[in-house]
Amino acid sequence: QIQQITAREILDSRGNPTIEVDVFDTAGRSARASVPSGASTGSREAIEFRDNDKSRFGGKGVLQAIEHIHQTIAPALIGCDARQMRQIDAKMIELDGTENKAKLGANAILGVSLACARLGALQSDLPLYQYLGGTGANLLPVPCMNIINGGVHARWQGADFQEFMIAPWGAGSISEAVRWGSEVYQALRNVLKEKGLSTGIGDEGGFAPQVKSNREPLEYIVQAIEAAGFKPGEDVAICIDPASSEFSENGIYTLKTENAKLNATQMSDYYAKLIDDFPVVLLEDGLAEDDWEGWKVLYNKLAGRVELVGDDIFVTNITYIQRGIDEQLANSALIKLNQIGSLSETFDAVNLCHQNNWGTFVSHRSGETTDSFIADMTVAMRAGHLKTGAPCRGERVEKYNQLMRIEQQLGSAAVFAGKNAFIRNC
Ligand code: PGA
Ligand code: ZN
Repeated sequence: QIQQITAREILDSRGNPTIEVDVFDTAGRSARASVPSGASTGSREAIEFRDNDKSRFGGKGVLQAIEHIHQTIAPALIGCDARQMRQIDAKMIELDGTENKAKLGANAILGVSLACARLGALQSDLPLYQYLGGTGANLLPVPCMNIINGGVHARWQGADFQEFMIAPWGAGSISEAVRWGSEVYQALRNVLKEKGLSTGIGDEGGFAPQVKSNREPLEYIVQAIEAAGFKPGEDVAICIDPASSEFSENGIYTLKTENAKLNATQMSDYYAKLIDDFPVVLLEDGLAEDDWEGWKVLYNKLAGRVELVGDDIFVTNITYIQRGIDEQLANSALIKLNQIGSLSETFDAVNLCHQNNWGTFVSHRSGETTDSFIADMTVAMRAGHLKTGAPCRGERVEKYNQLMRIEQQLGSAAVFAGKNAFIRNC
């Protein structure tokens, strides 16, 4: 039984405040979880409750959301069984009473939801991935590592595209994949240095060089894969998240580095050319969150060649994912806990995808904490691949490290998802 819930303000990886929650049970056990925060957020995401008091943290404080936990959520949950995830989440959603968690805040609700799940695992004497995914949970995901950061994660004259990731999908295990990824990352530093480019890093730990096109990072990554001794495509493939909502307006996409303005069809052709020339196997948010018609064009051109993941367009919400399925405009959804704001609704989104043969690509946020919840969650959900930044920066590597711990614990029962994790059917 839950006896007490305590929340506090802590800092995230960008130095902004976020929420950490401790939940205590009557047997003296306790569990902790914290909440991440995005920079290129979708407009339909659940509401992250901020104080807007400019005298603290530039208005980003979360003291009111913490008040909501102490004053409203805690009294309603004390005495509940922490293992009743669905009841606990439903109770908080009911207390909030809005469509998008605007009253209590998705950050408040999610922090409690995750901390309760961890406490439930502790009470059940199970590791979190088994508690959430059953004793059969054994699928380790391909780690998609964001090794060049652009867009709003670089805040300098970087690439228009936000994320250039490597997927060491030819590896035999997660620990081997993490090693390959790290070796390519180190090789990339040398490639950039030789070109006289900056090796400073962006929000997700990837390098953030000043480039003149969105092809340039892909060229450097291929060179780095080769320099590290791997075969581009066969051993290590590439995934891209342009986060195109950030550079589009009314269906027009502005590529600053290339001085180009493209419509959805031209943008789709632009991606097709990149896929011809580089071993790109996954494209996330190729088009903007409101460009539903454009997404159909993109899908018709590229489905079967790459996994087409929707992030800002679906925001981990079954309403929008269902529309995407009905209109056939993607074949995978990005899964971010704080876009929807509770663990049960995140499970609902994943289940809906899997029932429809869609992929699920689990994701961190650009503002993170060292909480590794999503590592266990990815194994539990059999999502097959996840992105949680470069193999660099504590808050990023903690997730990869947790996956390696899980692999070691599973021993010979562990299965690495490898190439099968990626959706490339029509
Ligand atoms: P965000 O970006 O966490 O800054 O929103 C991640 C993404 O677009 O996938
Ligand atoms: Zn994205």
